[in-house]
Amino acid sequence: MIVTTKELFTQAYGKYAVGAYNINNLEQTIGLFRGNLGKAGSNDEPTNPAKSAPFIIQISRGARSYSDKRFLEALIRTAEDVFPEAIFAVHLDHGTEEVCYDCIESGFYSSVMIDASHESFEDNIAITRRVVERAHERGISVEAELGMLGGVEEDIEVSAEHACLTDPDQAVEFVERSGCDSLAVAIGTSHGAYKFTGNQGLHFDRIQAIQDLLPGFPLVMHGSSSVPKEWVERINAAGGQLPNTSGVPEKDYLPAAKLGVTKVNIDTDGRLVWCAIHREVFRDKPADFDLRTAGKPFMAAYAEFITKKNEALGSAGQLEAVRAALSGVNA
Ligand code: 13P
Repeated sequence: MIVTTKELFTQAYGKYAVGAYNINNLEQTIGLFRGNLGKAGSNDEPTNPAKSAPFIIQISRGARSYSDKRFLEALIRTAEDVFPEAIFAVHLDHGTEEVCYDCIESGFYSSVMIDASHESFEDNIAITRRVVERAHERGISVEAELGMLGGVEEDIEVSAEHACLTDPDQAVEFVERSGCDSLAVAIGTSHGAYKFTGNQGLHFDRIQAIQDLLPGFPLVMHGSSSVPKEWVERINAAGGQLPNTSGVPEKDYLPAAKLGVTKVNIDTDGRLVWCAIHREVFRDKPADFDLRTAGKPFMAAYAEFITKKNEALGSAGQLEAVRAALSGVNA
């Protein structure tokens, strides 16, 4: 069942973070739904309530143009039929103003992100405000971004020296004047597989300072992949070349969630799982060329990865409480 992002945030705020996972194709979609229902092996396995989680599907502009945005919508609609127990929201990741309007008009998305963080403070507010007005008319919520994360996202690359943390006072003014419903904050993370070069990590003091000034307001953490050593080692052992990777330690997710980080964006980790499985399968079966030989173990591995990630986020085991709350029954 597709629900509003706002409903998921209301349930999660201050308790756990909702995983927001990027998808591009069929196998990722199936693995994602299975993982959020605690069924690794097949669609027909019974749902495991202790491992089931509400989640957000993220669609980037790159994913919309990789195949065709209509394929993704059809995949998600079909997954909704195949997995009727799932409760999730559909979100546009890093939208431009134009793409936000397209998603708002489509009637399919629960929320959109307008990313004008590379514009001036005033322009960021003005652009976000315009998107908020159009989205709210349709009951769709808007994530905006303030501050500058490092790394590459879509077609924008921000070098480490240009990345800057979100200023808490500016965050208050930004939220008030733009009317956005959640805010992506720069708190030390960056997109991709190379987040930290030394002992840096999440700036908990900055998250705390923002929450103190915006109590109850959902914050979003981009660049949250943990870049697990296990997956990087498997990739490199199977011919990959990913040196000096680093990510956000999973143990940091829950403390961040308690400080109002309600949505945690994961894309890179999913790519690593995909890469490791495909490299291993064709290394071990050099005479095989069937895409299903790799697709099957990938779906199982991705489902298992999602379930584990939700455990770290604290969202695993929360699905039934969300369902009860949405139907007006006390969980
Ligand atoms: P990662 O690159 O850490 O997975 O972050 C993804 C993201 O923030 C998408 O918006």
